[in-house]
Amino acid sequence: MKRIILAALAFTLTAQAQQKPGDPKMKPYIDGLMARMTPEEKIGQLNLVSVGFDVTGPVVSKDVDANIRKGLVGGVFNTYTPIAVRKLQEMALKESRLHIPLMFGYDVIHGHRTIFPIPLGLSASWDLKAIEQSARIAAEESTADGLDWVFSPMVDIARDARWGRISEGAGEDPYLGSQIARAMVRGYQGPTNDLTNSTSVMACLKHFALYGAAEAGRDYNTTDMSRQRMYNEYMPPYKAAIDAGVGSVMSSFNDINGTPATANKWLMTDLLRKQWGYQGFVVTDYTAINEMMEHGLGTETQVSALALNAGIDQDMVGEVFLKHAAENLKSGAVSKAQLDAACRRILEAKYKLGLFQDPYRKVSQERAASTLMKPEFIAAARDIARKSLVLLKNERSALPLKKTGSIALIGPLANRQRDVIGSWSGAGDWKQAVSVEQGLRAAAPSLKITYAKGANIADDAQMLERLNAHGGDLDLDKRASEDMIREAVQVAQAADVVVAVVGESQGMTGEAASRADIGLPGQQLALLKALKATGKPLVLVLMNGRPLALPWENQNADAILETWFAGTQAGNAIADVLFGDYNPSGKITATFPVAVGQVPIYYNHKNTGRPYAGVKLDKYKSRYLDVPNEPLYPFGFGLSYTTFTYGKPTLSKATIGPAETLTVSVTVQNTGSADGEEVAQLYLRDMVGSSSRPVSELKGFQKIMLKKGESKTLTFRLAPDALKFYNNDLKFAAEPGDFQVLVGGNSRDVQMAAFRLAAQ
Ligand code: BGC
Repeated sequence: MKRIILAALAFTLTAQAQQKPGDPKMKPYIDGLMARMTPEEKIGQLNLVSVGFDVTGPVVSKDVDANIRKGLVGGVFNTYTPIAVRKLQEMALKESRLHIPLMFGYDVIHGHRTIFPIPLGLSASWDLKAIEQSARIAAEESTADGLDWVFSPMVDIARDARWGRISEGAGEDPYLGSQIARAMVRGYQGPTNDLTNSTSVMACLKHFALYGAAEAGRDYNTTDMSRQRMYNEYMPPYKAAIDAGVGSVMSSFNDINGTPATANKWLMTDLLRKQWGYQGFVVTDYTAINEMMEHGLGTETQVSALALNAGIDQDMVGEVFLKHAAENLKSGAVSKAQLDAACRRILEAKYKLGLFQDPYRKVSQERAASTLMKPEFIAAARDIARKSLVLLKNERSALPLKKTGSIALIGPLANRQRDVIGSWSGAGDWKQAVSVEQGLRAAAPSLKITYAKGANIADDAQMLERLNAHGGDLDLDKRASEDMIREAVQVAQAADVVVAVVGESQGMTGEAASRADIGLPGQQLALLKALKATGKPLVLVLMNGRPLALPWENQNADAILETWFAGTQAGNAIADVLFGDYNPSGKITATFPVAVGQVPIYYNHKNTGRPYAGVKLDKYKSRYLDVPNEPLYPFGFGLSYTTFTYGKPTLSKATIGPAETLTVSVTVQNTGSADGEEVAQLYLRDMVGSSSRPVSELKGFQKIMLKKGESKTLTFRLAPDALKFYNNDLKFAAEPGDFQVLVGGNSRDVQMAAFRLAAQ
């Protein structure tokens, strides 16, 4: 008990400080409305349905149609465009008894029509302004297309590259993840958080909680975790989004220490509402209540009661509340107060969106036409995509490429438009996306570019069948692999440089796309080996939604550019970097392993009692026999066409008191031959604690531009909270003793300074 109260204290303080007074007219308005609602109509608000549409408008099943008219639908998702939305909204407003407007949601994850890099790529920019801008543009487009609500940001910390949804989040770090969560909420909901603004869209924090910790990286799998780890390592981004005023929260599919999130009262009520002070509503993930029958929690009637009692307000697709809430009310399994609370939260969200004043939120075809994919948005997509690209290797001056001479453009992803916009690409139209080949040709008209496919992305028939059954469009080149490789080698031999665009198809990451082998799929590695044998400079352009294990590629390629799935403008952005028109500055936010067997691998791990210190024959150490402990590329790593040198950090004081802020200064110099941007990162190590502490934790970063030869002294401020952590009693406090400050351009290559935290 004591533990929970202490933790509650720490978490509540900030939540209360951030709460703004609401609109005083909201409560009486909703009281008045609810006084007129029947229990069925209240239950109806708890029902979120999916309605697809075609060119003629929404495709409404008889059931949904009838339910909207009866006031049994609270919200709709998967319907957008002014015409389609208006048609359903009119049905609710004109034909239902109380004329309560519907709320329209959609999976806008990294852009609505203009598609930005997948979130893992966006996070690699470490550019909070750019990330906020991507969400702002998504808000402008989605609201112009009739939407009120987006199912983003996804802030699940993920340390397991096997999990396909690592692509949808900001990687492995709680500090960076929290900053990005805040930036996304601000971008969607607007800088003043006024959802009545017709260009603001309500964000949805997901997936609450710990969805990224699925056992073995298999989607939807169990999560079992100590509270201490939760609070220190997984909860901060959720908390940051709550503090930023996110309007809604989505429950996750997984169970947490034995209780599915969707039935988890501790999570949804005690932590989220009572401790963090969250006042919005919670929607389930897709049929998550029904799925609790599979989790073994009881009948549909029982799981319906469990969810409502836990603090869930809206049921996505499952219609479990619709079917069972009335009988649960009758039997006393749920109370009227619980139903009223859930209904009120949904109505409040609609009120905050201004739907009771203007249910159409100024939607019109004219507005849509002048907003969607407008030139400024496309220009921003190109710029933001460039910022997300990460140069992982560059030797023998392989990059930048010259715009003259000839290149062999090889690989199954080189001309793919569908793949570059990634999975969960909103209402993005891949036909408007720029492939790598298109981008290169546009940027260098005098360069001779010869293309050969060289390999299929994958040729495992079963995998292809599975991917294609769910929206993939992977065609299998039926030629024998040797023939495809032979053709590619011939093309390579005739060119100055080989640019091989390899990786995953977009459908190999995202939801339900876990992989146990995280190397290049199919015959792509065999292709690269044959290309290497030509002796031509080999440049890899990677396209993928997760860290891949690429030891051979890292050793043998001359240059490697990680491009993720970079969105509508991918090809142009990639060309900008390959030709040196833009100097790359992205840094990875999830550790790349050498082998899948190292996973989960993350930089902020704890030490063991037997850390391996490099003595080869030291047997009883924490290590593998067959692979190193070290990753292929550490968290925060990324190169530039120039080089940066860090001085030793200097500290304002050698000893600080508990209420003091430490100032850390470090000089960074551009020591190379090009202007460039660098992400300077500051990590902290707490040397001795009442429980074991991570070997390093990110506590600050600055993205700076330095002209060649220029140096700048950066200042970081470590406020008292930066030294605190949740200890074994879940008390958030700093512990006196020695600390190290580590500063550098990634989590591995750092310079150190030490200080002491005094007790008084
Ligand atoms: C996903 C969510 C998504 C929802 C609605 C679920 O399967 O887990 O992230 O928002 O579907 O499409």
